[in-house]
Amino acid sequence: MPRARIVATGAYVPEKILSNRDLEKMVETTDEWITDRTGIKERHIASSKEACSDLAYNASKEALKTAGLKGKDLDLLIVATVTADMPLPATACILQDRLGAHNAAAFDLNAACSGFLFALATAEAYITTGMYKRVLVAGAEVLSRATDWEDRSTCVLFGDGAGAAILEPAEGEEGIISIKLYSDGSKGDLLEVPGGGSRVPCSAESVKEGLHFIKMKGNETFKFAVKTLEGLVTGMLEENGLRSSDLALLIPHQANLRIIKATAERIGLPLEKVLVNIHKYGNTSAASIPIAMDEAVRGGKIKNGDYVLLEAFGGGLTWASALLKW
Ligand code: UT7
Repeated sequence: MPRARIVATGAYVPEKILSNRDLEKMVETTDEWITDRTGIKERHIASSKEACSDLAYNASKEALKTAGLKGKDLDLLIVATVTADMPLPATACILQDRLGAHNAAAFDLNAACSGFLFALATAEAYITTGMYKRVLVAGAEVLSRATDWEDRSTCVLFGDGAGAAILEPAEGEEGIISIKLYSDGSKGDLLEVPGGGSRVPCSAESVKEGLHFIKMKGNETFKFAVKTLEGLVTGMLEENGLRSSDLALLIPHQANLRIIKATAERIGLPLEKVLVNIHKYGNTSAASIPIAMDEAVRGGKIKNGDYVLLEAFGGGLTWASALLKW
């Protein structure tokens, strides 16, 4: 079975920037607190005209251009998101239409901040079994629409953006070596948007109670993340006979600089080998890994034959890692 490999990437963030200083005027917080506790300095916020599919479209167009492909060349399109344009139709179907990807099946996938890796694993499975040849995977979020701008414990964390990757069967040894996905639904209440689904449908009351906003038990989530990510990354390396020194780059989900640093330290990886861009974008959930990956590729931080490790952690709870030979 041929491996699946990423042949091109793309990314897009909205133009508007919201800095920590701007947030100081909105809630009781300081640039110092946000920087020390999270590493975030600013984040991008979608305009009122931009929805999830618009961000995904811009990132996907860039990936297609880089690959020298058109929408009609795609067989499958997966959008990982928790902030879809609307409940129905799927954002992936809206994207399919805009890209002119008439030959592609399209669906959304929700695994929160781990969404891009869950989608990557899905794309890989379709490619390695031979069902589809060319798959576009996008992680796209407009978290600003699910943010309670009066809740300082969450509103300083999130940002909007999108990243995309195109996968094809590999010709040689390059590509996805392994992907591991994990979930623990018993801890779902650590990070949730309680309203807007069939449990608590949208009503005047649900809006009044703020049930359509992200609620997070930040400290518990933080501890679970630090504990879990070390084992996740070391397990992936060990199973593939590698050491952290074999990695050219670790691309982590950008949730908190302290989580990223703790993971790197625990596995003995110097920070120069870790892609960090949380200061510019905040936590963009499913978009964070593909945005970071695109930055690494365009910045020349990854070259052919390099081992690259991706890891993510998020609501669900879900967590995942992927080992790639570039
Ligand atoms: O994306 C995937 C999943 N998400 C994550 O992995 C996020 C994980 N969690 C975190 O990153 C961190 O827990 C946070 C950044 C959210 C919070 O940092 P923390 O060190 O866990 O702080 P805390 O929640 O324990 O709060 C410490 C103090 C509290 O005050 P008291 O009770 O000690 O007086 C908070 O009220 O900081 C206060 N606080 C703030 N102060 C200024 C909370 N938010 C703010 C704020 N500005 N924005």
